[in-house]
Amino acid sequence: MPLVVVVGAQWGDEGKGKMTDFLAAQADVVARYQGGNNAGHTVMVDNEVYKLHLIPSGILYPNTRCVIGNGVVVDLQVLCEELQYLREKGVNPDNLVISERAHVIMPYHKEIDRLQESAREAKIGTTGRGIGPAYVDKVGRSGMRIIDTLDVDRFRRRLQEILPEKNLILKALGHPSGFTVDSLTADIQRYVTPIKPMVTDTSRLIEEARKNGAKILCEGAQGTLLDVDHGTYPFVTSSSPTAGGASVGLGVGPNRLDEIVGVMKAYTTRVGEGPFPTELEGSMGEVLRERGHEYGTTTGRPRRCGWFDAVIARYAARVNGLTGAAIMLLDVLDAVETIRVCTAYRYRGTVLTEFPSDVDVLRECEPEYTDLPGWMRDLTAARTYKDLPDQARAFLGFLERQIGCPVRYVSVGPRREQTIVIESVF
Ligand code: GDP
Ligand code: IMO
Ligand code: MG
Repeated sequence: MPLVVVVGAQWGDEGKGKMTDFLAAQADVVARYQGGNNAGHTVMVDNEVYKLHLIPSGILYPNTRCVIGNGVVVDLQVLCEELQYLREKGVNPDNLVISERAHVIMPYHKEIDRLQESAREAKIGTTGRGIGPAYVDKVGRSGMRIIDTLDVDRFRRRLQEILPEKNLILKALGHPSGFTVDSLTADIQRYVTPIKPMVTDTSRLIEEARKNGAKILCEGAQGTLLDVDHGTYPFVTSSSPTAGGASVGLGVGPNRLDEIVGVMKAYTTRVGEGPFPTELEGSMGEVLRERGHEYGTTTGRPRRCGWFDAVIARYAARVNGLTGAAIMLLDVLDAVETIRVCTAYRYRGTVLTEFPSDVDVLRECEPEYTDLPGWMRDLTAARTYKDLPDQARAFLGFLERQIGCPVRYVSVGPRREQTIVIESVF
C-alpha cells in the first residue's frame, strides 16, 4: 500500500494543510515528520477553519491515526493547548500518538531564539518559537526528549546535566535571570501528565500499519527552500522539510516512500527575510496578498508575494524526487490579465536555469519571464480538469513542462471540495 509524502516545494505556506486534509480522506495514518509550531497549517471544512501548528492535518477524520514523529520538536504547552482547541471545536484528538524520541522545545529555547534574533544584524525573521535552538540542542546532544520527561526524577537529572550551559548562554545573550531546575520542572511537568498516554514508539507503529496494508500519509512542514541543507541558507529553518526528512523524521526506510507530492502555489510567497527573485513590490504584489489572504497563520505577518518561479519548482522536483505536483490557489489568479512565470535567472549577463547555492548570487538574479494569458474567470466552482478554461489548462501544462513532473492535483479554493484530481496518489 502506498506511502505518500506531502512536501512544500517553495518557502512554506503552499497549502500543505489543505492537501494533507484532502488526501487524508483515503489514508489510515497521517504523520508529521519535522518542524514544530513554527508551522501553521490551515484546513477548511464547510465554513469552519482549523489552524493547526503541531498536530497533523489528518486529525479531523475520526478514524485516522495521527502521528507526531521523532523529527518534530514539541512545545508541550502548545500541544496541550492545541488538543484543547480541537476539543472545543468538537474534534476528538484521541487518535494522536507522539514519538518518545521527539525533542521538547524548552522555555530557554524560546528565550534564546528571541535574544539571538534580536542580536542578529542580518535577521532571519524566525517565528520566535524556539525551533532553531531546540534543533541545535538535538544535534549537539544536549536535548530533552519526550522520553526524558516522562519520569520526574529522570527529567530533573537530565536538566541538571544540561541547564548550567544553557544559563551561561542565556547570560551571554543578556537574559536577566536564567532558569532553575525547580521552575522548569514545575513548568513542564504539568503538561506531561495529559500527553503521557499518547507517547509511544511511532516508527514501530507506522511499520506495523504499513505491513498490515495501511495507507500512510506523511505531512511536511515549511518548504524546500527553508530546508537547512537545500534552502536559502542561512535564511532557513533548522530542520529538513524535504522528502528525505520524512524517512529520518518518522523512522521509515527511504525505500518505503512511494509517492512524493510537491505542494506549490500558482505564484510564490515568503515570510521572513532572505532573497526572493520574483518578489513583486508594487500593486500586483498587493493584489496577490489581498486575493490570497497572504498573512501568516502563525505570526500574522504579511507574506511577501511574487510570480511562480519554475527554477525553484524544478529544483524542488530534483531534491525531493517529486512524483507529482499539487498546484494550489489557482483561483487567486482569476482576475490577472497576464500571468508571468519565471523560467530562468539572469545573473551578471549569464542565464542560470538551475537554482544557485549562494544567497548572494540569488540576490542578484533577475527573473526571465514567460507571459501567459489569464483566464479572467472565477475558477472556484471548477471540480474537474474539464471545467477549467483553456487558458488555465495551458498555464498548468506550461508549469508541468517546466517542473518536469506531472500536475496531479489543482486547488481552486480553501475548501476540501475545491480540489481537482488529475491522477490520485492513493
Ligand atoms: P501550509 O502552511 O502549507 O499548510 O499553508 P497555510 O495554511 O499556512 O496557507 C495556505 C492558505 O491558503 C490557507 O489560508 C488556506 O486556507 C488557503 N488555501 C489553500 N488552498 C487554497 C486555494 O486553492 N485557494 C485559496 N483561495 N486558498 C487556499
Ligand atoms: P508552514 O509549515 C512559512 C520561516 C520563518 C523564518 C524562517 C526560520 O506553515 O509552511 P524558524 O522559526 O523556523 O526558525 O524561522 O522560516 N518559517 C516559515 N515560513 N511557513 C512556515 O511553516 C514556516 N516556518 C518557518 O518565517 O523566515
Ligand atoms: Mg503555513
